[in-house]
Amino acid sequence: MADPILQISSVSKNFGGVVVLEDVSFVVEAGARHALIGPNGAGKTTMFNVISGVYQQNAGDVLFAGQNINDIPSRKRIALGMARSFQNIRLMPHLSVTENVMLGQHSQAGILDLLKPIMVMPRAHDKERAVELLDSFGLEAFQGRSVSELPYGVRKKIEVVRALMANPRLLLLDEPAAGLNVAETATLHDFLVEVAERGVTLLLVEHDMPFVNKLCETVTVMNFGRRIYDGPVSGLREDKNVLEAYLGADA
Ligand SMILES: Nc1ncnc2c1ncn2[C@@H]1O[C@H](COP(=O)(O)OP(=O)(O)O)[C@@H](O)[C@H]1O
Ligand SMILES: [Mg+2]
Repeated sequence: MADPILQISSVSKNFGGVVVLEDVSFVVEAGARHALIGPNGAGKTTMFNVISGVYQQNAGDVLFAGQNINDIPSRKRIALGMARSFQNIRLMPHLSVTENVMLGQHSQAGILDLLKPIMVMPRAHDKERAVELLDSFGLEAFQGRSVSELPYGVRKKIEVVRALMANPRLLLLDEPAAGLNVAETATLHDFLVEVAERGVTLLLVEHDMPFVNKLCETVTVMNFGRRIYDGPVSGLREDKNVLEAYLGADA
């Protein structure tokens, strides 16, 4: 039995008077490919923000590899081995692929502050590692290209490669398959399997259910800020709460 890499324990979060996460608990085992799903507004992105330290929860605990990280700032969570990609692509379109990947060494924490090219002082070592990573995923052909010239599906992969620059043990992906066509989605699947096989635990928010079914073994379902299901992906279609959440109370 694998040890949990991430334990979410009774986490609640509100914004002003609005409760967005309510007493949510789930565990992600090391080496898992775990999905977090739920209708729009369920609180999935907020949960990612709590996990990565962008938001502080109002109650509950987040444990990473057994350590309580409630008081550890976002930037330091990356150093512990947690990385993240975003729902909307945040590559810098006019930099080359390699330059974007190199940003992964720097951009994980402050994120928006770091989207200023002026701040990027490339180091030879970063470049070597970026090139090596791109090569290892068969993306060497794109190295010198400007991101703005690349198909969307390739950009998605570059974004993940950028997150891997920080050498994460856990990678959080917010809707990686959004906006991809069928062929690109299939390619992304194989790519993420490869990432997982290198020892990176995957936790992803995703709306594309066939994609989740194929990639993930375990899933947590949220609705209106609460956890309504937690277990094997194979159990989803028979779960009454899940059916209700997706299809309405008549289901
Ligand atoms: N910074 C914020 N301030 C106020 N409300 C927020 C904030 N972030 C998210 N919310 C609200 O929390 C709810 C859940 O949002 P979100 O986590 O983005 O859902 P999901 O990713 O599941 O679609 C929504 O009702 C959203 O409007
Ligand atoms: Mg979201």
